[in-house]
Amino acid sequence: MTSLTAQLSDIAGSVFKDQGLDPAFGQVIVSGRPDLGQFQCNGALAAAKAAKQNPRAIAEKVAEALKTNPILRDVSLAGPGFINLSVTDDYLGEAMNRVAGDPRLGQPVKAKPEVVVLDYGGPNIAKPMHVGHLRAAIIGDSIRRIFKFVGDETIGDVHMGDWGLQMGMLISELEIRRPDLPYFDANFTGPYPKDSPVTLAELEEMYPKASGDCKADPARLDRARQATAELQDGRPGYRAVWRHFFDISVDAMKRDYGNLGVYFDLWKGEACVNDLIPPMVEEMKKKGIAIEDKGALIVPVKEETDKQDIPPLILIKSDGAAMYGTTDLATIVDRVNCQNPDRSIYVVDHRQGLHFVQVFRAAIKAGINGKGSLFHLGYGTMNGTDGKPFKTRAGGVMRLDDLIQMMSGEALKKLNEHGLGADYSEAERDDIAKKVGVSALKFADLSNNPIANYVFDIDRFSRFEGKTGPYLLYAAVRVKSLLKKAEAQGDKPGAILPPETGERDLVLMLGHMPDAIASAYAELAPNRIADFAFNLAQTFSSYYSAFHMLSEPDVARRRSRLALAELVLKELELCLELLGISVPDRM
Ligand code: ARG
Repeated sequence: MTSLTAQLSDIAGSVFKDQGLDPAFGQVIVSGRPDLGQFQCNGALAAAKAAKQNPRAIAEKVAEALKTNPILRDVSLAGPGFINLSVTDDYLGEAMNRVAGDPRLGQPVKAKPEVVVLDYGGPNIAKPMHVGHLRAAIIGDSIRRIFKFVGDETIGDVHMGDWGLQMGMLISELEIRRPDLPYFDANFTGPYPKDSPVTLAELEEMYPKASGDCKADPARLDRARQATAELQDGRPGYRAVWRHFFDISVDAMKRDYGNLGVYFDLWKGEACVNDLIPPMVEEMKKKGIAIEDKGALIVPVKEETDKQDIPPLILIKSDGAAMYGTTDLATIVDRVNCQNPDRSIYVVDHRQGLHFVQVFRAAIKAGINGKGSLFHLGYGTMNGTDGKPFKTRAGGVMRLDDLIQMMSGEALKKLNEHGLGADYSEAERDDIAKKVGVSALKFADLSNNPIANYVFDIDRFSRFEGKTGPYLLYAAVRVKSLLKKAEAQGDKPGAILPPETGERDLVLMLGHMPDAIASAYAELAPNRIADFAFNLAQTFSSYYSAFHMLSEPDVARRRSRLALAELVLKELELCLELLGISVPDRM
């Protein structure tokens, strides 16, 4: 089925067509001036430009023709050629019944689905996941959910940072500490011991030590470089150690992402494209795209129109090591081989903007991206209340699992303040607190445009009042409990009647969800859905206080109101699901 605006666009489009104009000018959108009409069509202005005619004259003709349509109760002109439209209550009532009966709640299915790879992980082996990876996960997972719902085939790839110098640092660190381990025997070929020589905690302690030592001591750094090169070359003992590091880190990552309700289809990393690097580099050399420069192999990517200097991408360093950009290029090759995507979207910190300009340009120059487009959605920084990138109280980077703990703790505190669920079991309260905590975190993030910076404020995010996740959960749970009460008194949602005065705002809003989802999809902006959900919750809240839901004596009217409430709940739940937020049964 189609949305209200799509149905009206069809109607207006055919009127434009009758006037010999492009039907695309008939696009109808939700009104920006609800005092003038419920919908508007601005196409007469563009149509006039294209046809070199007077916009007002075109608008008048279109409006005259629209007035004869029985579903339009009001058609008026404003300004140089805007057309304002309002539909009849009968039409609204019927439209609502169609939405309520549609499992997709009025959202059309995309006619030509595309294959879309989304890259929103990037956690690094041995480094605990921190808030830097949080926004990627929250925003990327929501975009994946939105794309999937709209109808694309989505592949979320975690793309772990499991290759490169950081691995060489770790391997050499273990070699320094435990030279006795069989892996470090130059002749090690196996067998492959099952148990890891280190625990996750040890691994996490090893990385900062190794990285600090490498910074301080060039000889130590050389050793790490040497280990990296040997690892990339396939030295069996180093590969075995790498595998241990990888396995224990992945378990922790899966746990962290799981707690956050963030999902990936693919658990690939930089390492698994290592074998694709040599042939790719050869090919790029042959084509003259990669050139020698002081012992290194580089890809110049500067373009004449550049306003700033874009340095070349370093493909292979003079010591023979592949770089971050190299693995990103080989990953593009891998994705073309495996998924052949129409689009790849990288949800990565905006500070990596230059890196992606280099990678994308090199990929296009080398022609390795197949038919697919490449796009970097660079998100802004999560700042502390001091306006600087968010840190722990001690000034360190906050670990993701600590942050989630902190959010559930705050949620539990606020639940207690509101006396919510006082009589529930401890397990249920914990579950609710976790859901509320995650909702606070995700909603606060997703209610901003991804590219904006935002300030992390745990107290504000966790409040039950205002534009917050907990407010929305509470709103949804309230409708659930209303419907349960109705059921208990033998009532259930019925057919939706043409709206009464005072009910139209809610009904129109319920019809607008597909537009919010469509903009979120087109603009890669989950905040469109967050805004919609918040407005819907607020509109319903006023409606709920103005209308009797359970005690209305007219049965048909009462059941119509309950049906609207049920539709509000379904839309809220869908919006929250698209934001990656789950609603508890009760609070
Ligand atoms: N591992 C990288 C980091 O922590 C992020 C990877 C982002 N994705 C990519 N395809 N480069 O900075």
